[in-house]
Amino acid sequence: MSTDELIVSTPTARYPVVVAPGALAELPARLRDLEMRGALWLVSDTNVQRHYGAALERSLEQAGFAVRSHAVPGHEGSKDLATLSQLYDWMIGGGVERRDCVLALGGGVVGDLAGFAAASVLRGVAVVQLPTTLQAMVDAAVGGKTGVNHPLGKNLIGAFHQPRLVLADTDTLATLPPRELRAGWAEVVKHGVIRDAALFELLEAFVAAGQPAAQLPDVIRRGVAVKVRVVSNDEREDGERIILNYGHTLGHALESVAGYGALLHGEAVAIGMHAAARIALRLGLFSADDVERQRRLLAAFGLQTAFPAGVDSGALLAVALRDKKVQARRVRWVLPTHIGGVVVRDDVPPELVEAVIASEA
Ligand code: NAD
Ligand code: GLY
Repeated sequence: MSTDELIVSTPTARYPVVVAPGALAELPARLRDLEMRGALWLVSDTNVQRHYGAALERSLEQAGFAVRSHAVPGHEGSKDLATLSQLYDWMIGGGVERRDCVLALGGGVVGDLAGFAAASVLRGVAVVQLPTTLQAMVDAAVGGKTGVNHPLGKNLIGAFHQPRLVLADTDTLATLPPRELRAGWAEVVKHGVIRDAALFELLEAFVAAGQPAAQLPDVIRRGVAVKVRVVSNDEREDGERIILNYGHTLGHALESVAGYGALLHGEAVAIGMHAAARIALRLGLFSADDVERQRRLLAAFGLQTAFPAGVDSGALLAVALRDKKVQARRVRWVLPTHIGGVVVRDDVPPELVEAVIASEA
């Protein structure tokens, strides 16, 4: 195991998560180590394919692998049943076999879509996640949640299907649109707040130093390590994994009320984290200093923390109450107690949440 490598270990799976510049060059050798002898079904989106698809396909073919490739449009709309059905047509029509492997090269959209195709075609073939967005590196590619959206809501159809390997090539971030990169930092900050005060401090030092590119792989790896630990402890979200939803209750609601696409997921999560911190402050759980410290770090990454002007707090609350994390009609809020720790509370009065939404930051 190299020092660039983390290990997810759950009751059903054990796999490496590699975060390093140039990591994609390791893919042929790593697939051989995994004894992958079948065809490789390379799924990406049109943006990612343009930058990295052809070169990756060539290097795999030169190493003796049979590769088929398919690109979907590069946006959330591709995470739907119609696109999934096209993947099935492509794979089944092309003679996919149980020993084959799906390679998901792209952001969380491709990872979730291709991961679910792998989970379900022929009752399951292997998948390797090759994340190319910061968001997917630190979150979506690790932990085995796969799926597509339904017209009635996001991620409502899916399966847990752990990858055999996650290879995050940090060099690919060079072509990521800056807004997507910014949004990804919200998830890294989230990991610091929920579980790792030292990561939070590292992020503060990283922004103070002007985000030096040379530190990027290490900072991202530290962010991924939190997700690796949490999903290793709780693969199926029976307990601890819920803490990864910090900032997501109002974040998801905001995405839905604003209309998907108006705000990137990470942008909405940053606003949701700031709101959750202010809810925790009002409950006497979190200090005003720590609310401000989190706000400053998010702002340093270019993330807005105030709700958009004119947001309908009633509509937000109504959507939050329909959230998947609701048990017996009570919202389960992940609330910080200090930088590096959170609690889950289901007794937050809706009026308090409404007041936080209505009050300015
Ligand atoms: P995305 O996959 O839509 O990618 C964002 C944009 O960047 C796309 O236009 C894409 O084409 C482009 N892109 C990707 N990599 C690029 C690169 N290296 N260079 C240039 N362009 C590039 O967005 P995302 O934020 O990565 O993923 C969002 C999805 O992830 C959502 O559907 C969300 O539900 C899902 N998600 C899943 C999990 C999970 O645990 N499975 C966790 C969090 C989020
Ligand atoms: N993104 C939340 C999870 O993987 O559980």
